[in-house]
Amino acid sequence: MDSQAVKARLAELGAMVEARLQGFADDPGAPLRLREAMVYSLMAGGKRLRPALLLSAASLFGTAADKVLPFACAVEMVHTYSLIHDDLPAMDDDDLRRGRPSCHKAFGEATAILAGDALQADAFRAMTLCDLPAERVLAAVREFACAAGSFGMCGGQQLDMEAEEQAIALEELRHLHALKTGAILRAAVVCGCLLAGAPQRDLEAFGRFGASLGVAFQIADDILDVVGDTATLGKPAGSDAEAHKSTYPSLVGLEESRRLARAHADEAIAAIAAYGGPDADFLRGLANFTVTRVK
Ligand code: IPE
Ligand code: IPE
Ligand code: MG
Ligand code: MG
Ligand code: MG
Repeated sequence: MDSQAVKARLAELGAMVEARLQGFADDPGAPLRLREAMVYSLMAGGKRLRPALLLSAASLFGTAADKVLPFACAVEMVHTYSLIHDDLPAMDDDDLRRGRPSCHKAFGEATAILAGDALQADAFRAMTLCDLPAERVLAAVREFACAAGSFGMCGGQQLDMEAEEQAIALEELRHLHALKTGAILRAAVVCGCLLAGAPQRDLEAFGRFGASLGVAFQIADDILDVVGDTATLGKPAGSDAEAHKSTYPSLVGLEESRRLARAHADEAIAAIAAYGGPDADFLRGLANFTVTRVK
């Protein structure tokens, strides 16, 4: 699938996710300012890559989007919470996100912390709304919880902070990237498969696809922090150098980083080379998109 077709499909799936997210956002009941902060960050755009991965993996194994859409939205809610907290002064201290002032800049730190907390808990509520056999939903919830918590994203964020101002080995950095970013991207793919009841052998192949794509994605993010511009990225370029982060460019330089990003994307593509049809084509296209994107 060529890159234009990949972008068009991603936009199509993104629109579907946004329509459903808006439904969650319109749900009254929460204190107004908290809801405003959650919606502000959630509905500020974003590539919607993680829900697109989940929807496509589920579709590949025969489960239609409407069955898994609440779970796909939940994944985006957890991702958005991770961005809100990642930008806090105590973490990366970044003032711009998705092209607007970061949540804590717009609403204050306390409300931003609570907006992240609430998005995470509300996400797990949304997951239970899938109209699918309970054992499939349970397996996917377990998978996603592992990827978001101390074994995954939060664990990786801890390692990311500890690696500031440190010279770490490339293998350690790969592990850090696999946790802080790779785990959720991998889980998005695997949860799509689990919700669709995919066989074990396929779960393994798609798990390898998601893990490799996840590391490629964070290497590309590190590269964009160096070569991108703030207006295009919608977040501050040069933030990693300013915070003395351990990144691929800081460790191995830009050229080797580009080679490694491409190598991980190729590994992802190879993991699902045996699968045919439009969803598999699109997933392979997303692996390419991951390393060729400009934001
Ligand atoms: C940014 O993720 C945070 C990382 C894990 C690198 P995205 O680049 O997917 O951000 P949005 O969702 O498009 O804003
Ligand atoms: C963040 O990595 C990964 C998360 C878990 C949010 P970064 O700190 O590099 O993400 P950006 O560059 O701020 O989006
Ligand atoms: Mg960070
Ligand atoms: Mg950051
Ligand atoms: Mg970054």
